[in-house]
Formats: sequence, C-alpha cells, structure tokens
Amino acid sequence: MPLFFLLLLSPLPGLAERSHQEDFRFCGERNQTENSSVIYEHGPPTISIENTAQALIIKRPFLPNHRNTYCKYNLPLPLGRYRFCVYWFKPNMTLKLVYGKQHFLLRKDLSCNNIRSKENQKTEKNNSSIFNVSYIMKGTKNTSLESRPDFFFPATPENMPVWEEDVEKELSDLDRLMGRSPAAAAGAPVHRTFRNKLQEFEKKLAKVEFEGQNRTFGQAAMHATVLRIEPGHAPQDMAFASQREEGKEVHSFTVDLPSSLFMKVKDKEDMVEHRVLLMDINSQTMFQDENSSRVLGDKVVGISLVDTVVANLSDPVVLTFFHNQLPRNVTPLCVFWQEDATTNVGNWNSYGCTTVKGDKRTDCRCNHLTYFAVLMVSSPEITYIHRAYLSIITYIGCLISALASICTIFFLYFRSKQRDQITSMHIHMNLLCAIFLLDINFLISEHLASSSSEATCRAGGLFLHFSLLSCLTWMGIEGYNLYRLVIEVFNAYHNHFLLKLCLVGWGVPFFCVTLIFFANWTNYGPFSIPVYESIGGKSTNATM
Ligand SMILES: *[C@@H]1O[C@H](CO)[C@@H](O)[C@H](O)[C@H]1NC(C)=O
Ligand SMILES: *[C@@H]1O[C@H](CO)[C@@H](O)[C@H](O)[C@H]1NC(C)=O
Ligand SMILES: *[C@@H]1O[C@H](CO)[C@@H](O)[C@H](O)[C@H]1NC(C)=O
Ligand SMILES: *[C@@H]1O[C@H](CO)[C@@H](O)[C@H](O)[C@H]1NC(C)=O
Ligand SMILES: *[C@@H]1O[C@H](CO)[C@@H](O)[C@H](O)[C@H]1NC(C)=O
Ligand SMILES: *[C@@H]1O[C@H](CO)[C@@H](O)[C@H](O)[C@H]1NC(C)=O
Ligand SMILES: *[C@@H]1O[C@H](CO)[C@@H](O)[C@H](O)[C@H]1NC(C)=O
Ligand SMILES: *[C@@H]1O[C@H](CO)[C@@H](O)[C@H](O)[C@H]1NC(C)=O
Ligand SMILES: *[C@@H]1O[C@H](CO)[C@@H](O)[C@H](O)[C@H]1NC(C)=O
Ligand SMILES: *[C@@H]1O[C@H](CO)[C@@H](O)[C@H](O)[C@H]1NC(C)=O
Repeated sequence: MPLFFLLLLSPLPGLAERSHQEDFRFCGERNQTENSSVIYEHGPPTISIENTAQALIIKRPFLPNHRNTYCKYNLPLPLGRYRFCVYWFKPNMTLKLVYGKQHFLLRKDLSCNNIRSKENQKTEKNNSSIFNVSYIMKGTKNTSLESRPDFFFPATPENMPVWEEDVEKELSDLDRLMGRSPAAAAGAPVHRTFRNKLQEFEKKLAKVEFEGQNRTFGQAAMHATVLRIEPGHAPQDMAFASQREEGKEVHSFTVDLPSSLFMKVKDKEDMVEHRVLLMDINSQTMFQDENSSRVLGDKVVGISLVDTVVANLSDPVVLTFFHNQLPRNVTPLCVFWQEDATTNVGNWNSYGCTTVKGDKRTDCRCNHLTYFAVLMVSSPEITYIHRAYLSIITYIGCLISALASICTIFFLYFRSKQRDQITSMHIHMNLLCAIFLLDINFLISEHLASSSSEATCRAGGLFLHFSLLSCLTWMGIEGYNLYRLVIEVFNAYHNHFLLKLCLVGWGVPFFCVTLIFFANWTNYGPFSIPVYESIGGKSTNATM
C-alpha cells in the first residue's frame, strides 16, 4: 500500500509538468459584496484583469470579426472572499478561470452575445481591489504584486498576436522583393533580405490566428496556406489541392502528406496544435543557381511542418504537378532548393526525391520537406549522341560540296575556252560560285555566331542570306537558260547577255538583303530562341 501511494504521488515528473504547464497564471483574491459576474471581452494584447463590485472583467485580443463579442458568466452566490486564478494555455489558445471551486472555460459559447450590451457600458463602475496578487509567466518566477483594482500584462514582441492582415502585408512585401529583375536579385544582399523575410514570414504563419482548419493568403506571385492539425487526433493522411490556374504552364499541384509525418509530431507533444505551411511561389527570381536553370512553370512549392525538421521519412511526401504536355526533348526532374547560408549560393538538388513522369503530370516523391520544383532537363539522346554525328556529317557534306564546286568551276573554265556554248558555261560557273559561297557560309556560320562580337555575327547573317538568295536566283537563271536553248534556238544572240544575267543573279539578292538591312538593321544578328539545354536549361542563341 505505501508503495502504491508513492507511485501515485510522483507521476512521471517530466511529462506531467510539460503537458499541464500553462503559459501564464494569475492568482488573486476578490471580496464579493454583491451578485456579480465574469465578463470576457476583446482587449489589447495580451491580457488584462479588472475588478469592480459588479464584475470581474478579463480581456484578451479577439479575432477581427469577433471584437464585439461579449461573454458573461454568473459567479457563485454565497457572498464573501473568493480566491481565483486565471490560466492561459497558449498552444490551444485556452483561457481558464478557477473561481473558488467553480471552473470557467472562457471562450465563445452560449454565454456570449455578438453585441456588447449598452446598459453595461453606461453604469458607473465601483472599483474594488484584488488582494494577494501574484503571477507566473512561463519560465519566470512567482511574482507578487500590490493590491489594485486592475492589472494589465502587455505583450512582448514574441507573444504579440499575429493577425491575417499582418500576414497579407508581409506577403506583399515578399511579392515586391521577388518582382525585381533577376539581374538585380542575383546580388547577395537582396537574396539575404529575401531569405530573412521568408523566415520571418514562416514564423508569422506559424502563429497567425484564424478560424477554421485552413487558410490561404496572398493575391500575387506568392500564396501561403496554413493547415491546422488539431491536437490529439493527427490525421491518417493529409491531402491538399491548390487552386487551378488556367493558362499557366503548371495548372495546379497537390500535396499528400503521409501519416508517418504526424507520428513524429504525436510523439513530441500531445496537446499542442501543429501546422503545415505550404508556400506556392510563382516566380523563380529568388531561386537562381549559377547556371540559371529553369524550373517548370517558374513554380516553386515550399512545404514545412512548424517547429519540426522533417527528413528521412519512411513514406514519402507526394507532390504532384499538373501541367501541359512537355516538349519531347525534355525530361522533368524533381529537385529541391539547397542554399549555403554563408555564401547565399543555392543549388537544385534531387537527393531523396524520385520523379514519376506522366503525360500531363509529374509526381515527386521526397523523403523530406523543403522548397521543391520540377527542373527541365533535356533528354540526352538527341543532345549528346546524335548532335555530334550530325555536325560531323554536315561538315563533311559541306566540305565535299565546296571542293566539288571549286573543281567544277576550274574544269568549266578550261573547257569554256574550247567550246562555243560559252554563255551556258558562264552561267554554270556563277551558279557554282553561289553554291560555293553557301557552303563556306555553313562551315563558318557557327563560329561566327558564337563569337562575342555582335557585328561579326550580323555580317555573318547578312552574308548567309545573300548567298542563299544568290543560289536561288542563279538556279532560276539556269532554268531560263535551258528554256532559251530549247525554244529560242535560232535567236541566239543578245547584247551583253551575260552582263544582264549577272546583274539579275547577283543584284537581286544584294538588293533584297540591303533593303531588309536598312529597313531595320537588327533584322540580322543575334536572335535568342529559348532552347532547353542540359541540366542548365539555359537559352541558347540561334543566329539568322
Ligand atoms: C488546453 O491544454 C491544456 C494543457 O495543455 C489542457 O489542460 C486543456 O484542457 C486544454 N484545453 C482545451 C480546450 O483543449
Ligand atoms: C468585504 O466587503 C465587505 C463589505 O464592503 C466588508 O464588510 C468585508 O470586511 C470585506 N471582507 C474582506 C475580507 O475584505
Ligand atoms: C444574481 O443575478 C442573476 C442574473 O444575473 C440572477 O439570475 C440571480 O437571481 C441573482 N441572484 C440574486 C440573489 O440576486
Ligand atoms: C458605488 O459605491 C458607492 C459607495 O461607495 C455607492 O453609493 C454606489 O451605489 C455604488 N455604485 C454601484 C453601481 O454599485
Ligand atoms: C477606478 O480605477 C481607475 C483606474 O485604476 C481610476 O482611474 C478611478 O479613479 C477609480 N475610480 C474610483 C471611484 O476609485
Ligand atoms: C493574503 O492572504 C493571507 C492568507 O493566505 C491573509 O492572511 C492576508 O491577510 C491576505 N492579504 C491581504 C492584503 O488580504
Ligand atoms: C505564488 O506563491 C504563493 C505562495 O506560495 C501562492 O500562494 C500563489 O498561488 C503563487 N502564485 C501563482 C500565480 O501561482
Ligand atoms: C480547408 O477548409 C475548407 C473549408 O473551410 C475545406 O472544405 C477544405 O477541405 C479544407 N482543406 C484542407 C486541405 O483541409
Ligand atoms: C552548371 O553547368 C556545368 C556545366 O554544364 C556543370 O558542370 C555544373 O555542375 C552546373 N552547376 C550547377 C549548380 O548545376
Ligand atoms: C538522414 O539520414 C542520413 C543518412 O542516412 C543522415 O546523414 C542524416 O543525418 C539523416 N538526417 C536526419 C535529419 O535524421
């Protein structure tokens, strides 16, 4: 029997203290001289206690749309001196009053009206002191106070309540920061500011007060969703689906959180509400690696569990992106953002994530929580294997063609001295010249385009266009010549015939190119076409 008693009297000290410790306790004594009540209403942060002969008034900040709520509870009747204590449990936002032997849970219920009664505001209040006052804040000592009719405990910065409008304001700040050009954002200071702001913002989201199970904030590039997990009953699995955004590259995404995630939470503390934060960022400005890799739809999704680092999950978190059909040469890869805190250099990393590629969706299964995205990786089969062979074939083909043209020109030149069909020979030679020019252009254009000088690039583009047009005109002239030879057999001689042909053959292309160039000189030169390129996914320049 004594042993049994001992066990009862000393229940596991750590557990008992932690789960039943309130964040704030206020005790005092009140001389109840008449039939009176407890009034619970909106007030400044964090708590104030006032005593009059008619009522004990307890005030605490209420949600914006409940600020007119006014709750009134009758106090027990035998008049006399009563000892009372007010308990504040922050995790479940519960205020409890113990008055003598009676317990009151102060919250919105049947005792509350939505409109504060006027009659109560009018009556003059007869102050009445509270005696034997003492209070304890979490982590501080029991402090005694002088007898007074009213007590007010102002908020410190960290227990200041966070309202929805504070979150919206912070979100618009972040939006503005992200709206900067990528070049400006690449600087370390902007990055650091963003990172700090994002962290502060997550802290705010962890505390923001709202009604219901979930709430989504944000209007512009960034949205944030808070999902509440009620204490005690952690869900089996948790699913979230984002709003559908038509016309975007990524229409929507869903998040499936495994129950094993909440097992971890459950072990830690039973009575505390937990929160899952989802960030939906539609801008890649602040997530640029050194190769400026591009992620699908510029969408980055952040998932976190407040106050818990989640890694090495046995069941993965499933993040599904719904998107348009991807280009054939592109493979999606699920990655997460990893940043070096000191240098602010970030990288996309795929460690711990597997990618399941679908037709119009991509599933990412990851064993940890952080900021995720889908990186566009070009499929290697075209890029690396085929491209090399194709360029070699192109080079050899152009080279053979150019050499053959030269040889034929010389051959025709010597032949033309002996033959009388001299005009035809000259036309052939001109056509071959044009073909030769085109071949040479093909051979050197890649080097011209990749040279840093824009003028060289422009000249190359001009020259390429000219030789292509020349080829066309001289082929046309060949056709005309054939016609002439067959139909106009007897009318063979024209004055300066070859000169006229040359004027047309070389002059028309020259005229076209000059016209286009002077119409707008930027018609030639570097022209960027975004092409998904290797893991970098950067755009390459295609020149015309
Ligand atoms: C709030 O939590 C405390 C202990 O942490 C518990 O005693 C109290 O009953 C809880 N209140 C509600 C309404 O769940
Ligand atoms: C309570 O108030 C009554 C009436 O004002 C007074 O007679 C009584 O002494 C008070 N009791 C204490 C303990 O202060
Ligand atoms: C005290 O007030 C309540 C309502 O405020 C009333 O129901 C009760 O009858 C009153 N008691 C006395 C003794 O006046
Ligand atoms: C306030 O106290 C005075 C006496 O000190 C008394 O005459 C008056 O009736 C009281 N007012 C109320 C509303 O109780
Ligand atoms: C009641 O208390 C308030 C604040 O402590 C004080 O300003 C006021 O003068 C007091 N009224 C009476 C009648 O004691
Ligand atoms: C405080 O409480 C003690 C008993 O717990 C009592 O003796 C003392 O008179 C009280 N002090 C005042 C100011 O009421
Ligand atoms: C502070 O200590 C006194 C004496 O031990 C006790 O009566 C009082 O209830 C304590 N105050 C609080 C707020 O617990
Ligand atoms: C969010 O709350 C709404 C109602 O307020 C509910 O219909 C919806 O299922 C909730 N979503 C999640 C993920 O809990
Ligand atoms: C950037 O690209 C280069 C060459 O493709 C590659 O070696 C390097 O690992 C890439 N860096 C990052 C951070 O992806
Ligand atoms: C996860 O596992 C890896 C190796 O298996 C280990 O290095 C890492 O520290 C673990 N992370 C956490 C948070 O447990």
